[in-house]
Amino acid sequence: MKKLTVELNEKSYPIIINYGLLDDIKSTIESNYKGNGRFFVITNKTIYPLYKSVLDNFEHVIQIEDGEEFKNFKTFEFITDKLLEAKIERGDCIIAFGGGVVGDMAGYAAASILRGIDYIQIPTTLLSQVDSSVGGKTGFNHKMGKNLIGAFKQPKLVLIDPKTLDTLDNRQIKTGLGEILKYAFIEKTATDNNFGFFDKLKTLKDNAKNDLYSELKNHWEEIIYISVSMKADVVSKDEQEKGLRAILNFGHTFGHALEKITGYKKYTHGEAVAAGMIMAFNTALSRGFADREYYKSAVGLIKDYNLISEDIRNLNKNNMLEAMKSDKKVSHSTIKLVLPVKPFEVRLFDDTEELLIKDSLL
Ligand code: NAD
Ligand code: GLY
Repeated sequence: MKKLTVELNEKSYPIIINYGLLDDIKSTIESNYKGNGRFFVITNKTIYPLYKSVLDNFEHVIQIEDGEEFKNFKTFEFITDKLLEAKIERGDCIIAFGGGVVGDMAGYAAASILRGIDYIQIPTTLLSQVDSSVGGKTGFNHKMGKNLIGAFKQPKLVLIDPKTLDTLDNRQIKTGLGEILKYAFIEKTATDNNFGFFDKLKTLKDNAKNDLYSELKNHWEEIIYISVSMKADVVSKDEQEKGLRAILNFGHTFGHALEKITGYKKYTHGEAVAAGMIMAFNTALSRGFADREYYKSAVGLIKDYNLISEDIRNLNKNNMLEAMKSDKKVSHSTIKLVLPVKPFEVRLFDDTEELLIKDSLL
């Protein structure tokens, strides 16, 4: 069992990581959450049958459709209809039980219903366990773009059971791994702790030889703990992304563009971020920031984790650049890039020449 706190003064909250935690869900919540209202679980139609025995502990369970395409206003309306029909009150609490889509939607429902009530995150995908359940970004997509409607709303508690990863397919594991590797490359900027995450991930891969994913299963608790510790540290220092929090987007400006020009279906988010991190390393190398030895070992680790599919090559450079320019992080039409400057240190830049960005694309 591992426990940490996201330090945000009166909004601080604990994160508990424990294999098998869901077996005793009611008492875990009781000992870590002070409220005494009713619980309203929001999950989806794929997750509900898999975790029926856990979810049947709760009287109110709302099931939404499964998929990013349902992360929209209509689903938000569906959720709020159900909550209001059940006469939800200010003292009640929402539980988000699922991946990032459920977490973001349930979080936004908690931020807005009755002008805001408590919510608890129980993330069930690797990506949501290492990233989206922590930090309070909530919301949904608009036809003009991803995550354009939303609010910052911190949960009261995050409960992570790595056992849920046993029912996840390898594609979803890959998505989470992209974010996990990201933490290795931003460690020194993200935290004062010395996790040596890059070396740990490398050793894990070296020991695993050909069966990396089986080996990872023995280490989820520690990997998730290190990842969320870094996220918690960054969020504690910059909750609303005024500056530092942007480092969590390392690899994402390139990655989002890759997802966009390939219709969001071809590559997992993790593959896109992994390719994006390589492109960021290319840019850094051209700008003279990352030395060649670090570059080689970093790109080597990304490839060793099997996150780069062979056909991420020869991207249409003009399309990529256009997509990068329409990213929501663009301001005054300059592309902002988080780039590695030294081993495990990154910085946000808004002055990279377009030609150089183009040359960095795979
Ligand atoms: P997801 O929520 O769509 O889940 C992926 C798939 O796995 C779904 O089909 C889901 O039903 C299924 N699933 C979930 N848990 C399962 C389990 N234990 N066993 C079997 N299947 C399971 O995708 P995701 O990758 O978890 O999250 C992506 C979303 O997260 C995106 O919408 C993204 O914008 C958002 N996100 C938010 C933040 C944030 O800070 N709020 C950060 C990163 C990503
Ligand atoms: N996933 C990026 C953030 O939470 O800021």
